[in-house]
Amino acid sequence: PLLSTLINLNDFEEVAKQYLPANAWAYYSSGADDEISKRNNRRAYQKVALRPRILKKVSSVDTTTSILGQTVSMPVYMSAVGIAKLAHPDGECALARVAGKEGLAQLLANSSSMSVEQVRVARTSEDQPLFFQLYVNKDIQKSVEMVKRAVQAGAQAIWITVDSPVVGKRESDERLNLAVTAMDSDVQGQGVAKIMASSISPGIDWGILSWIRELTDLPVVIKGIQCVEDAVLAYNHGVQGIVLSNHGGRSQDTAQSPLLTLLEIRKFAPHLVDGKMQIFIDGGIRRGTDVLKALALGATAVGLGRPFLFSMSAGYGEAGVRRMLEILRQEMEMNMVFLGATSLKELRPEMVNASRLEKD
Ligand code: FNR
Repeated sequence: PLLSTLINLNDFEEVAKQYLPANAWAYYSSGADDEISKRNNRRAYQKVALRPRILKKVSSVDTTTSILGQTVSMPVYMSAVGIAKLAHPDGECALARVAGKEGLAQLLANSSSMSVEQVRVARTSEDQPLFFQLYVNKDIQKSVEMVKRAVQAGAQAIWITVDSPVVGKRESDERLNLAVTAMDSDVQGQGVAKIMASSISPGIDWGILSWIRELTDLPVVIKGIQCVEDAVLAYNHGVQGIVLSNHGGRSQDTAQSPLLTLLEIRKFAPHLVDGKMQIFIDGGIRRGTDVLKALALGATAVGLGRPFLFSMSAGYGEAGVRRMLEILRQEMEMNMVFLGATSLKELRPEMVNASRLEKD
């Protein structure tokens, strides 16, 4: 279909479902077990109501912000997604070019289908925000090498994913027994979940933070915080950021939605939202209003995973991703006008009513 006929992010998902090879669709779309966390990630946003303000004189809105010291045009970043080449041959390099043109940050996955060196070359400018996502390998030396390569290639922060000490049971993916080669793996043709499980170390603890700090001075983000207790621990360890995430519902099924984790933080550890540490959130964000709700409740920026893969598929490549972002941007801007907010700073907790979600 013509890109102009796709008018929301769900449309892209429908097209991807139709046009992606069955194994790619299964790998991208699947959640763990009964996919309850995956569904609840979306529902959490739908349960939060907005409280629009009127007569606020909003003639223009500004969506720029700063992520780990890097300026971005929107509070939305490309989250780490494995093996983007299944969606389009240009894979992660296409995403890098879009990020450059749109002024967005890209978090490159450890399990990407293109190397950090290739992505570096694909960038449209030297100072384009590029972060590297690390899975700590059972063979720690492999991770040391990976971090060194990422730093060498100009990554401006290291995000360590901690929500997958084992890989979730993604049944539709398992059934298709997807055969691909992940970048960081010696194992081929065993299905993505198994490839991952064979290399990610379940044996790490908070000591991983001193390990990473010996390797680099770059900002460190912990991705996959799922309760206020761990958010407080991360804060006390002095990390520059955390991502509230249940891995898009792909790790432990029935793990609570990241938006609920954000509410827990507001309630039990409000000092964490003081700006010393940036709080990111991902999972199920598909609408401009979802982005604004997360920001109103204290998030700095939000990550999207699947929409970047879906919008690249069906042969759309870069153009599809840019269309998807255009839609998201327009939705955000018009809803800022409804809320009476001219800049992201003006998004306040009073703009949402989260009482229905709090009862969950
Ligand atoms: C992911 N995600 C992920 N996260 C990570 O830290 N490293 C990775 O390699 C991957 N790989 C990956 C592959 C695919 C196909 C998906 C869908 C997701 C998780 C991702 O970064 C993010 O947390 C979720 O995708 C956010 O949820 P939504 O936006 O997909 O609902």
